[in-house]
Order: sequence, then C-alpha cells, then structure tokens
Amino acid sequence: MPLLCIASPKGGVGKTTVAANLADALRRGGQRVLAIDLDPQNALRLHFGVPLAERAGFLAELPRGIGWRSALRLTPSGVALLPFGTVTTAEALMVTAALEAAPALLTGPVREMLADPALLVVADLPPGPSRALELLAPLASLVLVVLLADAQGAALMPEIDSGRFLGLGGLAGRDSDGPRLVLNQVDHEARLSRTVAEAMAQHLGPRLLGALAREDAVAEALAEQRLLLDSAPASRAAQDLRELARVVAAALPRAVEPVAAGWAR
Ligand SMILES: Nc1ncnc2c1ncn2[C@@H]1O[C@H](COP(=O)(O)OP(=O)(O)OP(=O)(O)O)[C@@H](O)[C@H]1O
Ligand SMILES: [Mg+2]
Repeated sequence: MPLLCIASPKGGVGKTTVAANLADALRRGGQRVLAIDLDPQNALRLHFGVPLAERAGFLAELPRGIGWRSALRLTPSGVALLPFGTVTTAEALMVTAALEAAPALLTGPVREMLADPALLVVADLPPGPSRALELLAPLASLVLVVLLADAQGAALMPEIDSGRFLGLGGLAGRDSDGPRLVLNQVDHEARLSRTVAEAMAQHLGPRLLGALAREDAVAEALAEQRLLLDSAPASRAAQDLRELARVVAAALPRAVEPVAAGWAR
C-alpha cells in the first residue's frame, strides 16, 4: 500500500516522465518505491538507466505466468522497477488477451505488492483507456492524470470530469473524489500556455496537485537515461517535481512509513 497510477486520456503528455521522476522524488523522501511499467512501449526503464539490451519484464511474461518477483530489479536510484519487457506487436496483443481472460494475472501480483504496508507502488499506464487502468484504478489510492497546458488539454476537461476514460463512471476506486491532475510542460514564457494553465487551475481547484515547467533539462535527462533530480536538480522543473512529490505524499494514505534506506529492508 498505496498504489499511485499515472494515466492520461492523451498520449505523449509526460506520463512516463512524471511516473519515473515522481517515483524517484518520493523515494528520496524516504519511501520504499516500486515502479511498474504497464505500457508495451517499455519506456519507463529508460529513465532509470536500464540498458536497452535488457529485454525481460513483468507484463511481457504475463501470458507465461512467470512470477513478478523474477522480473524485479533494483535500479541505482533505489527505486525497484518492473519493466514491461520488450515485446512485438503480436506479443503485446497476447498480453492484452491474457489480461482480458484472466485479470487476476495482474491484480493478483499487484495485491501482493500492496499487502506490504510500507511499499508505495507507482504504475505508469499506456495512453488512453486501457484494460490495465480499468483493473488497477479500483485498487489505487490515487489516480494522477497528466495533461498539457494547451488547447487540447483544456478540451479534455469534460472527459476528466466525467471519469469516462477510467472506465469507472467518474470514480477512481477508493479515491472517491475522482482523479487528481498534474499539468506538464507549462511554458512560463508563452502567453497561451500560462493562460490555459491558469484557466485549468481555476476549473480544477484542489484536484490540481501540481504543474511542471517545460524545460530542455527534462528531455535531456531522458536522453542521458538519468533522473531529473540527478541531472538537473536546480532546474525549475526539478523544483516543481519536488513540490509535486510533497503534495502527492500528503494526499496518499498515511500507512506508508518512511524508512531510512532504499528499497530493500
Ligand atoms: N516538462 C517537460 N519539459 C520538456 N520535455 C518534456 C517534459 N515532460 C516530458 N517531456 C518530453 O516529452 C516527451 C514525451 O514524454 P513521455 O514519454 O513521458 O510522455 P508519455 O505521456 O509517457 O507518452 P506515451 O503516451 O507515448 O506513453 C519525451 O520526449 C519527454 O522527454
Ligand atoms: Mg509513456
């Protein structure tokens, strides 16, 4: 416990960037964190410096019923990682079919992870509605939706308000107030970005947990396969990230007990 899902109705908005860097920021805050990649793009691992040649992963092995613990790897950041695994299109479709036929293949292992009261699980979801999100949202303490501060982001507000893309008619499991949001790639120099961000903040009120600035440092960190707080700790986006981590930690159940060291106890 708890489970934090990072999702969005839209692709390319920064879900994986937020999932990886927020997992790292929360671990730096003293929590044991396990990050799971539920997107066949298998991109979460890139932020944690996992070599491209490493193909193994949790979801990729799902149809074969191999246990999640064998796919677990402790990254240099101290965050434990379950990569998706490298898959072909056919294999990705087999994973979806396996989840459809036997949802417990995913919910079973995730329930096992959540049984550890001191472990925070951060899940990176694929864009749009997905079977994985539908299965995990009811188990989540918090579903964090990432949107861009642009016209398309603003146009998605009714979709967010209705909760349709979560497949739950507006409810995100125990998080009865529905999803929380984070705005990404806010360009403080651009009038449109600033204006849209302000309008979205006004509309969302306390449902908006934070906003991250658009900065080259964020994309550069990924290019270096590093985490933002390692590669550019003084950047504005890093400051935004630390603030987001503080707010997210406060919004999660208090059952998580801080520990001094990394993931392993
Ligand atoms: N705050 C930011 N400033 C600058 N670049 C950013 C920022 N956030 C994300 N990016 C860049 O935007 C691109 C998309 O980010 P990311 O892969 O995290 O999005 P995603 O929502 O996970 O995409 P997908 O829907 O394909 O899974 C990446 O190149 C990333 O480095
Ligand atoms: Mg992604």
